[in-house]
Amino acid sequence: MLDSFENEMPHIHFEDVSFSYPGKKENLIFKCNFSIKKPGFWMILGKNGSGKSTLLKLINGIIKPKNGIINSKADIGMVFQNPDHQILMPNCRSELLININQNLSAYEINKKIEYVLDQVGLTGFEKRPIHTLSGGQKQRLTIACALISNRNFILLDEPTALLDQTSQLKVLNTIKNLTSNYKNPLSALWITHRYEELTYADSVAELKNGFLSSWHEPSKFQYN
Ligand SMILES: Nc1ncnc2c1ncn2[C@@H]1O[C@H](COP(=O)(O)OP(=O)(O)OP(=O)(O)O)[C@@H](O)[C@H]1O
Ligand SMILES: [Mg+2]
Repeated sequence: MLDSFENEMPHIHFEDVSFSYPGKKENLIFKCNFSIKKPGFWMILGKNGSGKSTLLKLINGIIKPKNGIINSKADIGMVFQNPDHQILMPNCRSELLININQNLSAYEINKKIEYVLDQVGLTGFEKRPIHTLSGGQKQRLTIACALISNRNFILLDEPTALLDQTSQLKVLNTIKNLTSNYKNPLSALWITHRYEELTYADSVAELKNGFLSSWHEPSKFQYN
């Protein structure tokens, strides 16, 4: 039973989902329907205030829909828009350690920490106190935490907003590689308002007026 569950593809399905924050009459998310049924690099584009972060919070269950059904079978990790809302521990190593959700030997843990820090361009930062990190370095640390958590579905809310172009490209390439790894591909849902990032995606959709468009290949996607 457990084996068959573990072998199932992670997926998320929204059916006629509507949501409004308390005290607001208008629906921010309105009759939203979409599915993510296979691993890959999925991106959602949308203007400021269109509800992108809200959509991610609905997916991972932080908030509940007013109407509609959300089905998800995935082990979800999240990279929040603001790293200060996420980091709990005093230094990089301890923050990474609380995100490891497997039984690993000390040797494997050290190898993994080295690997994920390298993947986000933070080699040598293991002992650094959090308060000495720049905003972009904190953002990269939260991405490293998502990678070390070994989850099969990662939600990333504008993860490159604080990054310079070099770090942005490094993180985009890291996620691209992990989502296209043919043996054990990751599912990643990446929120952005940077048009140039779309070329890295397998599928792109726009959140507008509370509604998510259908998925398109980046080359066929038109942003209104
Ligand atoms: N807890 C809350 N209570 C009331 N309103 C909220 C709450 N959180 C968000 N909102 C409002 O909901 C709308 C959508 O917010 P959300 O953060 O989902 O947008 P976004 O698309 O992620 O924007 P950005 O591109 O600026 O990150 C905004 O008008 C925001 O002010
Ligand atoms: Mg947001």
